Amino acid sequence: VKLGIMASGNGSNFEVVAQAIEDGKLNAQIQVLIYNNPSAKAAVRAKNRGVESVLLNHRDYPSREEFDRQIVQTLHQYEVEWVIMAGWMRLVSQVLIDAFPNKMINIHPSLLPSFKGVRAVEQALEAGVKITGCTVHLLCLEMDSGPILMQAAVPVLPDDTPETLHGRIQVQEHRILPLAIALAAQK
Ligand code: GRF
Repeated sequence: VKLGIMASGNGSNFEVVAQAIEDGKLNAQIQVLIYNNPSAKAAVRAKNRGVESVLLNHRDYPSREEFDRQIVQTLHQYEVEWVIMAGWMRLVSQVLIDAFPNKMINIHPSLLPSFKGVRAVEQALEAGVKITGCTVHLLCLEMDSGPILMQAAVPVLPDDTPETLHGRIQVQEHRILPLAIALAAQK
């Protein structure tokens, strides 16, 4: 299956997908990485792995729809079948959803439907929950919603900071994202 990955930052989830493919654990190819932040480390990771990457900076577009139209065009150009949002920090519009219906996967650092949005890890700490985790789900228009493919739980420890808790969550993200892609998309 031909994957397009979208990432905004560090790209550790991009890396584990690429590694799972290299290790023969995921029968897929990464056609392209799309990133929206010129300093995203994900782009460096793509280069190191010989994966093509395309910078599409949302600031260069007058509206979310125009931006998404360019994303769709790029994904089509690279013959992408499934879209993986691995730390993509922009809301998406109907334009993108309609182009890949039920073929977009997102990863989020909480046990959805708890703690949607960009402050998921901080919100879990503020709420005082003792267990949180991560969720891989199919994307729909409403942010951090859509059918759940896989989840993993992690404990919240008494001395956790957002950084330590996020680190513990990411270990589980890296485990379940390739598994969930295989479950949903692998042919
Ligand atoms: C992950 O925690 C993911 O759940 C969230 O953004 C983070 C991306 O991490 N949506 P990375 O860039 O893959 O390291």
